[in-house]
Amino acid sequence: MLVIVTKDYEEMSKVAAKKVAALIRKKPNCVLGLATGSTPLGLYRELIRLHKEEGLDFSKVTTFNLDEYVGLPPEHPQSYHYFMWENFFKHINIDRRFVFIPHGMADDIEEHCRWYEEQIAKAGGIDLQILGIGANGHIAFNEPGSSLGSRTRIKTLTEQTRKDNARFFGSIDQVPKYAITMGIGTIMDAREILLLASGKAKAHAIKITVEGPITAMVPATIVQMHPRATIIADEEAASELSGKYEG
Ligand code: PGA
Repeated sequence: MLVIVTKDYEEMSKVAAKKVAALIRKKPNCVLGLATGSTPLGLYRELIRLHKEEGLDFSKVTTFNLDEYVGLPPEHPQSYHYFMWENFFKHINIDRRFVFIPHGMADDIEEHCRWYEEQIAKAGGIDLQILGIGANGHIAFNEPGSSLGSRTRIKTLTEQTRKDNARFFGSIDQVPKYAITMGIGTIMDAREILLLASGKAKAHAIKITVEGPITAMVPATIVQMHPRATIIADEEAASELSGKYEG
């Protein structure tokens, strides 16, 4: 596992964007796994800049998002559909037909999850998966205790995650209780993983993820098993690491 420590959030975002852009240039029809949350926003901003100023071409890129809240329609301002279009897709030349995000209003959620996995397989698998990390070590909505071999499915959100996300909803009561999420097994099938972390609140999760034992109680620790995983953490997020890592 490669750990890169950057000065700050800005540099973390730029280093990540460079990696993503290099892949798109090398393989214009690559398949990206994308994440929501505050962490990847700087990465998306930088990719938008590269599209506008340097012509980075997304027209053949396929994307799969990690997760979506159950019960929120795509036009809901807190849905991950809305987040992705507002913060990224509407600013680049992505082809709508190649954008996949789990549907929070699916009638048959189990069937939808199966379909989602099938679409990933049909696209040839994910080349590069972007991940954030929760303060409790979750990846996507795979909370502590999730099976390390899990596939896309419906999950109950922990109280902690609902609290963490309440800031976007106004109050915790408005935060949905369930989400559809790619499984840990789905994430591990990606050919490459890029996990981003910024800020003090993530320092403990990053310490355990990089240096702790692998455990389902900290789902992110599974990335230690991935043959091509990179963690980009800013100095604050890396502040509890005891090893020496690339600066
Ligand atoms: P954040 O969320 O990027 O908003 O910190 C990350 C996560 O909970 O996975």
